[in-house]
Amino acid sequence: MSSPLPPNVHLVDHPLVQHKLTLMRNKTASTNSFRRLLAELASLMTYEVTRDMALQDVQIETPLETMTGKMIDGKKLVFVSILRAGNGILEGMLNVVPGARVGHVGLYRDPKTLHPVEYYFKMPQEMDARDIIVVDPMLATGNSAIAAVDRLKKLNPKSIKFVCLLTCPEGLKAMHDAHPDVPVYTAAVDRQLNDHGYILPGLGDAGDRIFGTQ
Ligand code: URA
Repeated sequence: MSSPLPPNVHLVDHPLVQHKLTLMRNKTASTNSFRRLLAELASLMTYEVTRDMALQDVQIETPLETMTGKMIDGKKLVFVSILRAGNGILEGMLNVVPGARVGHVGLYRDPKTLHPVEYYFKMPQEMDARDIIVVDPMLATGNSAIAAVDRLKKLNPKSIKFVCLLTCPEGLKAMHDAHPDVPVYTAAVDRQLNDHGYILPGLGDAGDRIFGTQ
């Protein structure tokens, strides 16, 4: 029997999410369909990760009378993409929350140590007033995600969540050990990492499959 998930993990097991993820994993999926499915999946994941967002009362006029409706202040939300594969998730998330701001963190994995090296960091202003959702399709070793969250915590945001499509026990443990306060939303927890830091069975190199660079 598989071991229980760390308490900060939200497994998004909705049938539509699982169906689309299986289509993406298939090595015969074209770049075009991989990208389209990723956008669709990202929209569905956004639905889950924003479930507890605060609402504010807004007075509006319907064609018949005045009423108090509820609205999200999307401008307080920042999606932070870990380059480059994180950018593949942004489109689908912004389709659902078009008012969100976007930040980018550039981290490459040193192929020998598998440790992250930062080469780019650009965020909106007033991060201390914002809720952050960090996105990267694959939480593998966890090194990039941990480094990105380390860096973002220095900006004192109101909250940080992490969204990926796929992860593995090693990545979840590393993330939980480093940042137990950061909820992780994922569509699947795969079996293991291989020696090159790839998730098995996984879906291959997410960046290459999104951008057709293989
Ligand atoms: N990054 C990827 O793109 N795929 C993996 O399996 C692991 C990290």
